[in-house]
Amino acid sequence: MKRIGVLVSGGGTNLQAIIDACENGTIKSGKVVTVVSNKKDVYALERAKNAGIEGVVIEKKSFDSLAEFDKALCDHMKSRNVDLIVMAGFLCIVGDKFIGEFENRIINIHPSLIPSFCGAGFYGLKVHEAALNYGVKVSGATVHYVTGVVDGGKIIKQKAVYVQEGDTPETLQKRIMEEAEWKILPEAIEEICASI
Ligand code: GRF
Repeated sequence: MKRIGVLVSGGGTNLQAIIDACENGTIKSGKVVTVVSNKKDVYALERAKNAGIEGVVIEKKSFDSLAEFDKALCDHMKSRNVDLIVMAGFLCIVGDKFIGEFENRIINIHPSLIPSFCGAGFYGLKVHEAALNYGVKVSGATVHYVTGVVDGGKIIKQKAVYVQEGDTPETLQKRIMEEAEWKILPEAIEEICASI
């Protein structure tokens, strides 16, 4: 059983999808051992607590530099003997030390079909606003490895979702989560845990 650490910043619906997948057997080769949030009082921490999983807050502002914040994240994951780190709606960019220590062991979910609408500044509703402004008829979600290039690591899984007439950033975000993110993230986790 591989040990999974999840990084969150918000509501944690992707975390919930991972927890549910561990319970229903979609994820059978790994288990979530720790959830780390870079923000206090986010609902994702409540979801961890409800599932009996440790929830920890590590805030950037508690450290003098990005390097120290990075080291704290890294030390925490090492102390829990984590095999795979999953960024599930984690809105911080991590540094080279962290990425280097866990090379090919950090994955992220992004709510578009990379290489469209990704990179620095494309997070949350901004991604869906950009997709609608461009007029794309198909968007979706991507699970990829995390490297020093934002949203630039090798793609693991993608799922397309059609844009519908009258979509707003909010309705598109919701459909992409339901039809793509909550499916491909647990599937990718199982495939990686089964193979490392
Ligand atoms: C998701 O759309 C995810 O793809 C993006 O941020 C959102 C997080 O949602 N990176 P949640 O916290 O998992 O509900």
